[in-house]
Amino acid sequence: MKLIIDDAHIELIKKVYEFYPIDGVTTNPSILAKSGRKPYDVLKEIRQFIGDNAELHVQAVSRDAEGMVKEAHRIAAELGKNTFVKIPSIPEGFKAMKELHALGIPITATAVYTPMQAFLAAKCGASYTAPYINRIDNMGYNGIQVAKHIHDIFKNNDLKTEVLAASFKNSQQLLELCEYGIGASTVAPDVIDGLVKNQAITSAVDDFIKDFESLTGSGKNMSNC
Ligand code: G3P
Repeated sequence: MKLIIDDAHIELIKKVYEFYPIDGVTTNPSILAKSGRKPYDVLKEIRQFIGDNAELHVQAVSRDAEGMVKEAHRIAAELGKNTFVKIPSIPEGFKAMKELHALGIPITATAVYTPMQAFLAAKCGASYTAPYINRIDNMGYNGIQVAKHIHDIFKNNDLKTEVLAASFKNSQQLLELCEYGIGASTVAPDVIDGLVKNQAITSAVDDFIKDFESLTGSGKNMSNC
């Protein structure tokens, strides 16, 4: 499972990249709005930091297919290879996806709440489809189950599209999808941090250092004892 950062804050992205094995960055219009900066200024800064080989996902906001395709051309031209244009999984979006796929522009089908949206997007040529785990849970359905259904539909129909799960609130949600072998998850920096931060882990590491220093002296470690 690829692990992607769902944020546009460059300092947070740098911090997460410093410590964790990250495969790219996803953004959406709400995330870009939080930056308060010009969209392409932020996105180019992210692209420059993550490099050409990492994935960058950027959403189109037009309501009609023609506008989405026009946006996709600019997104691809400005941000280069490995940039995936996020297209909402609505009728105009499917029309745009078919056209973009024919042009060879990589697509992430977004705003996915149902397996049928994902199936249609996959048939239109999307590389990824993004079910919103937490938002589906908040509607009274099971977001994890929806993501698993989508994964199974793709495998059972020999579709190359992968699930890019989005909208996470905790590490348990991520763990379940990781166990299931879905293609990718995009997660906010605070959730990524929460994957390995707990008192038991901190205490275990502290105890090992204390025991070693009781043997060798304060500040000593395996390089200087
Ligand atoms: O792009 C979709 C995803 O980022 C939504 O996440 O946390 O706003 O539900 P969230």
